[in-house]
Amino acid sequence: MAGPKPQLERAAVLREAIERHNRLYYGEDQPEISDAEFDRLFQELQALEARHPELATADSPTQRVGGAPLKELKPVRHALPMLSIRTETDTGEAGALNFDARVRRELRLEPAAPPVEYAAELKFDGLAINLRYERGLLTQAATRGDGSVGEDVTRNVRTIRDIPLRLRGQAPPVIEVRGEIFMTRKDFERMNERQRKLGEKAFVNPRNAAAGSVRQLDPAVTAKRPLSFFAYGVGFVQGWKLPASHKEVLDALHAMGVPVDAHRVVSPGTGGLVEFHARMGRERERLPFGIDGVVYKANSLQLQEQLGFVAREPRWAVAHKYPAEEQTAEVLGIDVQVGRTGALTPVARLKPVFVGGVTVTNVTLHNEDELRRKDVRVGDTVVIRRAGDVIPEVVSVRQDLRLPGAAEFRMPERCPECDAPVVRVPGEAATRCTGGLYCRAQRIQALLHFKGRRAMDIEGLGDKLAEQLVEMGLVKSPADLYALELAQLAALERMGEKSAGNVIASIEASRDATLPRFVFALGIPGVGEEVAKVLARLFGSLDAFLGARWEQIAGEKETIRKENVKRKRRGEAPVPVPLEGVGPEIMESVRQFLLEPHNRTVILRLSDPKNGVRVRTESPPVPAGEAKTFVLTGTLAGMTREEAKSLIESRGHKVAGSVSRSTDFVVAGAEAGSKLERAQELGVQVLDEAGLRNLLGKP
Ligand code: IVH
Repeated sequence: MAGPKPQLERAAVLREAIERHNRLYYGEDQPEISDAEFDRLFQELQALEARHPELATADSPTQRVGGAPLKELKPVRHALPMLSIRTETDTGEAGALNFDARVRRELRLEPAAPPVEYAAELKFDGLAINLRYERGLLTQAATRGDGSVGEDVTRNVRTIRDIPLRLRGQAPPVIEVRGEIFMTRKDFERMNERQRKLGEKAFVNPRNAAAGSVRQLDPAVTAKRPLSFFAYGVGFVQGWKLPASHKEVLDALHAMGVPVDAHRVVSPGTGGLVEFHARMGRERERLPFGIDGVVYKANSLQLQEQLGFVAREPRWAVAHKYPAEEQTAEVLGIDVQVGRTGALTPVARLKPVFVGGVTVTNVTLHNEDELRRKDVRVGDTVVIRRAGDVIPEVVSVRQDLRLPGAAEFRMPERCPECDAPVVRVPGEAATRCTGGLYCRAQRIQALLHFKGRRAMDIEGLGDKLAEQLVEMGLVKSPADLYALELAQLAALERMGEKSAGNVIASIEASRDATLPRFVFALGIPGVGEEVAKVLARLFGSLDAFLGARWEQIAGEKETIRKENVKRKRRGEAPVPVPLEGVGPEIMESVRQFLLEPHNRTVILRLSDPKNGVRVRTESPPVPAGEAKTFVLTGTLAGMTREEAKSLIESRGHKVAGSVSRSTDFVVAGAEAGSKLERAQELGVQVLDEAGLRNLLGKP
């Protein structure tokens, strides 16, 4: 039987062979053995380490395959904070000049003093990481987090082949390497292709893919992701004599086997920085990985120390970005999407184009005005811009490339989801579908609005449940709420018999509604609470509202307006205008909404006195000249302040916030305060709750 000694040796031989073949395969693209042979070596080492755990080392290549998933990523306090970096906003050469000027000012250098030496390098677009090596072994990897506390991602990071598990050469007791984990464009495309084939979610860009892959609970997942790494500095070090310059720090890391990007220069003064920025700007499209700009750093570590920090940003470094990237793309079509609120959004479908680090296949044209302004047509070639995380946008249309006969795009007159007519509400850029109570795209929104506190106020019905009811198909329109049964609700996820009962009770309680609330709850575009009150006051009953002759009202309004102009000239008091405050566009929106047959069906079902809501018919409002002003104070026993306010307003009276000589009544409840005193001072009539009900004819 072989003792531990030969096994120890065998493990060492296997490790070295595996590392070498890894390098040949991944680093040099020149494998010497087949994948199957490689797997045999690997499995032999795994088996050996499983039998003799004492043989397993932290730098064994078997560590790179992950292991069991974690429950959570543990917090790690950084030995030295991980800083962020100031961004120079001027994307021209002034970016470098401004930075130099600031550095020289901080250092109080005379204009004649020699140039400061800078290092320039790329700003990699990935995820910042701190790699702690103790006696040359990778012992901990942590994300940046908030700069002071990051997350422990050691096991995930061990699976990244670019990152050495053991440093080469004479390693210091402790050295923290700082750098960026990222994904090359090619790896990103390939991985997304694979994700799509597996029916899994594709990532939007290489940075998100890199970050998502590192911040994983299951290291085996990270192990399958093609991640790369470049170092750009060091963190805490112990027992290591720091070189004099940043450049030499990176050279030393490189010598230890840590990947360091070769695109870096040292420049006395700004000349080399400007040149580097411009050159990398030209080359960046051809780089295998995405960059976020370039970084300039004072090269001397002694100067870095002298310059220090402001807040969490060093004064000795700056990021210098590039203007947002632009590309041209062909418009394959223009689709119109309907959002939850019924807003119609035109979206240009593009022939896929890679811009600003992502493949863009469609771009929003926002709304009708924007569409007109840019005049995007199907078949056009458009200039697309995308910067950083910002959503892509159409900058302009290449008029010179427009095909003859390309037709101007018009917003549809009917909703592409439900075929209801569309309207434009004044003061809004959006074109909206009028089938609000019925349109599939708007079901969730319609229900959330309907049950809301200021609408039907169905207390037990939360947002989550409302969404669930629509998604399960139990509620297609708010009218379906009143047909829900206890058993249906109780069968839902996270719903007990008791809470289902509460919801049913809330729905029951909402069956008794005032007209203004009901009108508001319908969610008619442009009809907020105030407009709903005005409408309710004019019509008095739901039947009158549904039967309104809008053309006639509009005509009357117009006549009265003209009459009032004449009266004013004659010095006479104006006549009240019907629906004052409701403009022609809102009236048109209401008319369209009520005309839409599907909406009408829902409203009739909703207001069926047996199976739906009983909408209270208001007593006819007082003529405008007889409207009184009320002020509410204190707590009433039988109604909330909101209810008292609606009641008063439903009769055509006004509610004011403070007592003055023009106040007609003060309604005082329990614990009435200074408003009551003021009413008594001014001799204003004070009512209690019963008095109010009496006055308004409401028992
Ligand atoms: S130096 C002292 N150099 O950019 C400043 N950072 O906003 C420490 N980054 O989270 C960073 N490339 O992950 C530095 N060549 C580079 C960089 C770089 C990318 C990232 C880094 C940090 C962020 C700063």
